This record gives sequence, C-alpha cells and structure tokens, in this order.
Amino acid sequence: MATNIKQPTGKLGVLLPGMGAVATTVIAGVYAVNKGISKPIGSTTQMGTIRLGKRTENRTPLIKDFVPLTNIKDIVFGGWDIFEDNMFQSATNAGVLDRYLLEQLKPELEAIKPMKAVFNKKYITKIDGPNVKTGANKMDLAEQVRQDIRDFKAKNNCDRLVMVWTGSTEIYIQESEVHQTIASLEEGLRNNHDDIPPSMIYAYAAIKEGVPYANGAPNLSADVPAMIQLAKENNVPICGKDFKTGQTLMKTIVAPGLKVRSLGIAGWFSTNILGNRDGEVLDDPNSFKSKEVSKLGVIESILEPEKHPDLYKDLYHKVRINYYPPHGDNKEGWDNIDIFGWLGYKMQIKIDFLCRDSILAAPLVLDLAIFLDLASRSNMSGIQEWLSFFFKSPQTKVGLNPIHDIFKQEMKMLNTLRHLKGEELITHLGLDYED
Ligand SMILES: NC(=O)c1ccc[n+]([C@@H]2O[C@H](COP(=O)([O-])OP(=O)(O)OC[C@H]3O[C@@H](n4cnc5c(N)ncnc54)[C@H](O)[C@@H]3O)[C@@H](O)[C@H]2O)c1
Repeated sequence: MATNIKQPTGKLGVLLPGMGAVATTVIAGVYAVNKGISKPIGSTTQMGTIRLGKRTENRTPLIKDFVPLTNIKDIVFGGWDIFEDNMFQSATNAGVLDRYLLEQLKPELEAIKPMKAVFNKKYITKIDGPNVKTGANKMDLAEQVRQDIRDFKAKNNCDRLVMVWTGSTEIYIQESEVHQTIASLEEGLRNNHDDIPPSMIYAYAAIKEGVPYANGAPNLSADVPAMIQLAKENNVPICGKDFKTGQTLMKTIVAPGLKVRSLGIAGWFSTNILGNRDGEVLDDPNSFKSKEVSKLGVIESILEPEKHPDLYKDLYHKVRINYYPPHGDNKEGWDNIDIFGWLGYKMQIKIDFLCRDSILAAPLVLDLAIFLDLASRSNMSGIQEWLSFFFKSPQTKVGLNPIHDIFKQEMKMLNTLRHLKGEELITHLGLDYED
C-alpha cells in the first residue's frame, strides 16, 4: 500500500552550517541549473531513474517523476559561517567554480550572507573568524540558532526547512555520558559540557525546530542516543555521517567487486593530497582522527574478514590525508591495492583519482536535502538508513552494522522509494523465468 505523502507545496529552505567550498558549490550549482546554464550531473534526485515492476514492463521513470520531490526552483538557501563573506566572495575564495560561471550568478550569490556562527576554536583548531555568536552558555547559543531558523523561515516565506552540516570537521570526540539521554544533553548544554561541540548545538536546534538534519562531516553531531531519541520525539528524520565522495566512493565501488569474485586482498594503502581549507583543517591530527575513523571502517565492513579469513584476515589498511596547497580543491586520491588470485598469485591495482572534492560533494547535499524533505513529508523519523548511499560512515540503529557496499545501499534506497509508492520491491534475486 502506498504511503500518504504530503505534496511539496511552497518553498523549501536549505540551511547550511558552514558556507565554504561544498556549500557554495551546491548553491551556485542550483542557480546555474535553474538558469539553464548547466545540468545537475551527479545528482540522484535530478538525474537518477528507478526500475518498476518486471523487466518486461519497461517502466523506468526518473526518480523525480516517481516520488513527489521538491522542485529545485523552489529551494532557497541560507546558513551560518564564522566568516562574513557572502556566497559570491566565498565561492571565489574556494576556487572550485570558474569566475566566468560565478559572474553569471553574482547577484543571487551576493544576496546570501552567512548568519553569525556558533563556534569554538577548541573544536576546530586551524581556523578562526569574526562572525561568531556570544551567549551565556551552550543552551543559550542553541536558542539563538533556533531563533535564526524561525526568522529565516518567516523572512523567506518557506513552507519547510532542512539542515545539512557542511561545516569543517571537528576534533574527534567519543560518545560519553552527556550524550546518552535528552535530559543529560540539555543539562550539558546549560553547563557548557566539553563533549558538546558546535555541530551538536546546530543539530539540537534543528531537531527541536522540527527541521530534518543531515551531517556531511565525520564528527558525531546527531549520531548519539540523545539526538536520536530527540529526533524520534519530534518526528524528525536525521542521517549522517560524512559525504561519500572521492576515495571512499571508489573503495565502495571496487571492494564489493573484488569480494564477489573471491579475490583476496593483502593490503590497501590510500593517500590523499588536497589543498583546500578542508585539507588545512584535516592537517590537525585531532580533526584527521575523526576522518580516519570514518574512512577505516569501510573496507572491513564490506569484506567481512571474519567470514572470509583466507581472503581478508591479514588485510593491512592504511589511510593518509596530506595538506598540499598547490592542488587546491582538486584532490588526488591514490590507492595501492595488493590483491591475490588463483593459488595465491599476487597482483596489484593502482587507482589515481584526480577528483574535485566539492564537485563530488555538491550533488549529495542537494539530494540529501530533497530526500530528507521527502522523508519528513512521508512521516518518517529518526535515522534514515536508506540514505546511507550518500555517506562514508552511515548512521545506523544501535546494534546494527552499517552497510557500505554502494550497490546494496542503492538497492535499499530505491526499495524505500518503491515502498513509499506501494510498488513491488526489487532485489534482483528473482528466478530467470519470472523477472
Ligand atoms: N568535499 C568533499 O568531498 C567532502 C566529502 C566528505 C565530507 N566533507 C566535509 O564537508 C565539510 C565541508 O567541506 P568544505 O570543503 O566545504 O570545507 P570548507 O573549509 O571550504 O568549508 C567549511 C566551512 O565551515 C565553516 N565553519 C567551521 N565551523 C563552523 C561552525 N561552527 N559554524 C559555522 N561555520 C563553520 C568554515 O568557516 C568554512 O567556511 C568538511 O567537514 C568536510 O570534511 C567534504
């Protein structure tokens, strides 16, 4: 039976804490698409299709024609940053999109100015800026963000809002006592508990305002029991963490392929060189630790060495990120994969992915905003595992291991959409004569 999905009437406000390279690339991109200058390449909601029914039925609509998604012409952007730069200046500094394209979008980009941020240098040591809120305590700061959210909604005449964290990666913080219940979290906010970084304050504010929240960075943010409980109580969908782009995208494409062919892997060495502000922040060992934890889990979860000891028991996996300014946003992701085949004979695969970080991440921000809004209109709340497809370190329910294999993630996402519309689920496991 199809789910009752509210229609996406009016405007959707997309709020972005952190308005640097990724944020400006998605904002400028949406304007460029809306003006007919470019196409939304890499966006599942805009370009993806979905097969329905039996193969013989030939029903493969665009996803956006199948489920009622917000039209990207109805999106308005806003957000917060520690720098005062408007989106034209910020996009120019980020150096991702060329000046010629940005000039064509200048009035729209200049009109978006970041609101004052909740920031504390303790959690991101490499940067500092002037556009920062002050408050009596962390709860007071959360209240200020809630007020920003309400003001933005009223001023821009939005029907609905979503928030996607596109801020820098904070230092590694482990889940602790203060994160366990809503009461302890709120107490911690009032007492300025050290284990509550700014990203948690934004997430708390969003959820309290009934605004769906996605976390594009690896820091904990909404991935703690108190936030999950709060999201359930407030009927808000949440998801995270860390956009799956670049090297991890490649890993989750290549590793499942090697595994299904029962090829062994002795070692996987990954190194990245990048020169944008994200690279600078990740040059700090504490911020890198958040990223490292997020990147390392992927291979093991896909290969399941405990189930295939002959193939993966001794796999040596190493991930490095090096800040190298000359590359700017054009990251280079190197992978050396030592594999072995029939009778243990050794082979090597080398991947040198000359990617563009924010070009890969921007469509994910758009898709997450649009799908979270769909989830909200479909009355779905708590962790949205079907959106794991977009994350390096998917947030999952307690006691469950995340799924990293991109093809399984895709199947789960598409089946969720089919389920919403009362269509038959497709697992591609049907017998030859019946599919
Ligand atoms: N680009 C990718 O492929 C990719 C992939 C996965 C994750 N990410 C993550 O996305 C995030 C954004 O990446 P980016 O390349 O745009 O980085 P960026 O440095 O260009 O932008 C981040 C912005 O966040 C701002 N900021 C930091 N703390 C803030 C706070 N508390 N409140 C408001 N603003 C704050 C910074 O001033 C900066 O402008 C990073 O955490 C990065 O690790 C990016």
